[in-house]
Amino acid sequence: MNPTNPAPAAKTDTSEASRRESLSVVDNRTGRQYEFAIQNGTIRAGDLRKIKTSEDDFGLMSYDPAFLNTASCTSRITYIDGEKGILRYRGYAIEELAEKSTYLETAYLLMYGQLPNREQLADWVYHITHHTFIHESIKKFLDGFHYDAHPMGMMISAVAALSTFYPDAKHIFDPASRQKQIYRLIGKMPTIAAFAYRHSLGMPYVYPDNDLSYPGNFLNMLLRTTELKFRPNPTLERALDVLFILHADHEQNCSTSAMRGVGSSHADPYSATAAATAALYGPLHGGANEAVLRMLMQIGAKGSVPAYIQRVKAGEEKLMGFGHRVYKNYDPRARIVKRLAYEVFEVMGRNELIDIALECERIALEDEYFVSRKLYPNVDFYTGLIYQSMGFPVTMFPVLFAIPRTSGWVSQWQEMLLDPEQKIARPRQVYLGPELRSYVPVSERSGS
Ligand code: ACO
Repeated sequence: MNPTNPAPAAKTDTSEASRRESLSVVDNRTGRQYEFAIQNGTIRAGDLRKIKTSEDDFGLMSYDPAFLNTASCTSRITYIDGEKGILRYRGYAIEELAEKSTYLETAYLLMYGQLPNREQLADWVYHITHHTFIHESIKKFLDGFHYDAHPMGMMISAVAALSTFYPDAKHIFDPASRQKQIYRLIGKMPTIAAFAYRHSLGMPYVYPDNDLSYPGNFLNMLLRTTELKFRPNPTLERALDVLFILHADHEQNCSTSAMRGVGSSHADPYSATAAATAALYGPLHGGANEAVLRMLMQIGAKGSVPAYIQRVKAGEEKLMGFGHRVYKNYDPRARIVKRLAYEVFEVMGRNELIDIALECERIALEDEYFVSRKLYPNVDFYTGLIYQSMGFPVTMFPVLFAIPRTSGWVSQWQEMLLDPEQKIARPRQVYLGPELRSYVPVSERSGS
């Protein structure tokens, strides 16, 4: 970037010869012109600091509350085109992975950038399967919670507590240590989730069964009672695996940004994952599918949908499960989840709320209000219906999100650690508070 003074008269020359990968701006306060390099469709925010009115000026910053238009990192993990409704992990379409892959294979892909060969997959599955047990003291730790403790609260605490059991986790720049914590995190999340669930029911914990698949074992730890060997229903086992694939990563969302942000201070991965899980707990993120279910129950009948839509258009309600910060088209995951819902209903019986959901979607997709705002169903519109049909209480919905998102979190965490451009995350602010003022003793303050 080169500041020049004064600014030449603005001319528009778009000939091939004059085209450069750069942006020219004129600071109208000084008349100076600056040229910024454009790389990958971005300018460097740091370059703006060179735009100054005087030597002691701090320089220009960009103001972007909630990071609506700020890339905080480069990443090679997940690609989203929100306008076209495209989601890819490491270049593979989500539709193809959901159809042909398994969650653990997808987790490997996220982590290492390539699909594993047979041997690599067997090794990966073996190590994750052999890190599913949790220390007996973690079990006692979970016992300390009230019977009605929210499972997300239990999960956040238990994951944070894991860091105290694995002090080696702080060696984050030792590849072997990192690898071990990744096995442990992906392996233990379902165990903690299932133990939290069993605790809320007052039922004894079920230990992992290494003969079962990742989702099959999760169902085992949730559901097993007196049978000697738990045999998961294959449709439900596959449905859960597909839901896990769909939720594995979604680039720089709120919880992933929390994982990277906390990880950037070089905290151990358990502490960072606890922070990411906490971010996922919020109803604007991992809690939206619960809100959809409550909305469908509130609507109550297919015939009441038009009246509800009218209230949404009047700004009195939101159509939960519609709209997305990034997708301005049908969320590709929502299409897959909708199909999956029918497969689960085949086994568990039809969830009556599906008719209300379909009617909401039918009316909304034809209505000018939703069409003009590009509001389409997002992944959460149908997941709650599936989880409810499978017998999960609504409090478990965000937990079912946190389990698979762990693979995305640890992949993004490792990418951040190994990125030489990254430093501790530390945004700037625009200070609008008072100027310097003198302290006044309490006896002299007005109103004393
Ligand atoms: N129902 C009705 N109107 C909506 C909805 C909705 N679900 N979503 C957005 N709009 C309207 C807004 O009121 C706004 O209208 P206006 O231009 O007249 O003011 C317009 O559409 C643009 O919406 P924004 O709020 O600017 O979009 P933003 O990107 O900030 O919000 C969000 C995205 C939070 C997902 C929003 O669409 C929403 O609240 N949806 C419902 C909650 C939900 O389903 N969340 C799950 C997201 S997926 C996930 O996290 C896994």
